[in-house]
Amino acid sequence: MADTTNKGNNSPSNEYDGPPDYRVVGQHDVYPETTHDETARFNFLAQMNRHLSTKVMGGIAHAFEDRVEPKFKEENGRDFEDRHEVRKALKEDPMFQWWSALRRATMENRQQAGRWVTLRQAEALNEKARMLTEGDDRLKLDPEFKQPRSTEAIDHHCMPGSYHTELVPGDVTGPANYDSGIFATTGGMLGRFNDGGGVAVAQWVAKNLPDFKPKRILDIGAGLGHNVLPIAAAFPDAEVVAVDAGAPMLRYGLARAKSLGIENVEFVQGDVADLSRFENESFDWVQSTMFLHETTFKSMPKIFKETHRLLKPGGIVLHVEQPQYDKDMPLYEQAMRDWDAFYNNEPFWTKMHEIDLDQWMEDAGFNRDDIIHGGVAAVVDADIFPEAAEDNEQEDYGRKAAWHVIGARKATK
Ligand SMILES: C[S@@+](CC[C@H](N)C(=O)[O-])C[C@H]1O[C@@H](n2cnc3c(N)ncnc32)[C@H](O)[C@@H]1O
Repeated sequence: MADTTNKGNNSPSNEYDGPPDYRVVGQHDVYPETTHDETARFNFLAQMNRHLSTKVMGGIAHAFEDRVEPKFKEENGRDFEDRHEVRKALKEDPMFQWWSALRRATMENRQQAGRWVTLRQAEALNEKARMLTEGDDRLKLDPEFKQPRSTEAIDHHCMPGSYHTELVPGDVTGPANYDSGIFATTGGMLGRFNDGGGVAVAQWVAKNLPDFKPKRILDIGAGLGHNVLPIAAAFPDAEVVAVDAGAPMLRYGLARAKSLGIENVEFVQGDVADLSRFENESFDWVQSTMFLHETTFKSMPKIFKETHRLLKPGGIVLHVEQPQYDKDMPLYEQAMRDWDAFYNNEPFWTKMHEIDLDQWMEDAGFNRDDIIHGGVAAVVDADIFPEAAEDNEQEDYGRKAAWHVIGARKATK
């Protein structure tokens, strides 16, 4: 954002209107080091993403109005019926093709940039993680674990090896890549430690459920723990269990948590569609962040049923998803927000939007009247992002809510 407070100094840096510099990213003991050129590459990618979304994307809206929609109407004698028709028509247009190809290329570049950063220091990273986790019984890995098809079959968002691949025993380079590049991919919009979603959820709970004092919290599909740590920090007396299918994520997750001073989280390997290792009614809060869209049509009902089984009466489940579109938005918006499903290896993203989540929650055992809907926007650091930080204070996020909260309170008997 341009600095309007210091009128006497109009240096180019004060005119800067891009994403925050990568050098402000939050560091911890297993965070990969970056050289000058690697930092510059992440900055380029963040700025390229910003350019694509703020400057180039507008051209697609014009192309849609001027060419794509009139052509469809002329050929079919009617309006578009759904977002899939819009998507198929858009992809014939050169403006969409440009934007889409560049966006895919930035994603591929970001993954390869992070991969190089982490592979060249793999031994050091793996050793740091070993030192921090060896003998710590808060890391519960299962050497016999079979990856569910949803995590094994594809490289999510072009991430080589996805969440589970281990190149050597004790490998953490996959999650280190995820951690090091996410600040560039999001242009810093998840905060310095990329945990703004978890901070927002903790704040949402404090505001909307002030009497809720969970003793046991379960985070499903926890990844390397970006968003569960702020929740654990907000409830320091709670026992927090983070479950994920990927061993490297969990290993890195515990090392990262310890180096950030969060000690009340256990990292457990498992398939969250079958959590039979945990007893019925053993958690007060079951939580997921940015997770449901990476499950499947078959596993999601099982996951919902498991959350219901695991909750104590009066306990709460909250699922937080991003970015959201719904059937009330213009079809053009819906089609554009569906991009990741078709070009960024997120196959369930589009299908998930056709599911009646309320009905599925009801089928899992929750009462319709107990279903919770809300919105949160990631909380960012005021010092690196003053304008976005003002939104942290908003009472009603409305359309600005980047993330949708769907949840329920389990009925008391
Ligand atoms: C997009 S990441 C989200 C990570 C984390 N919740 C966050 O907010 O940063 C999705 C995670 O879900 C995990 N996952 C997907 N399906 C799973 C399953 N059936 N059981 C356990 N973990 C799963 C993946 O391994 C991955 O780490």
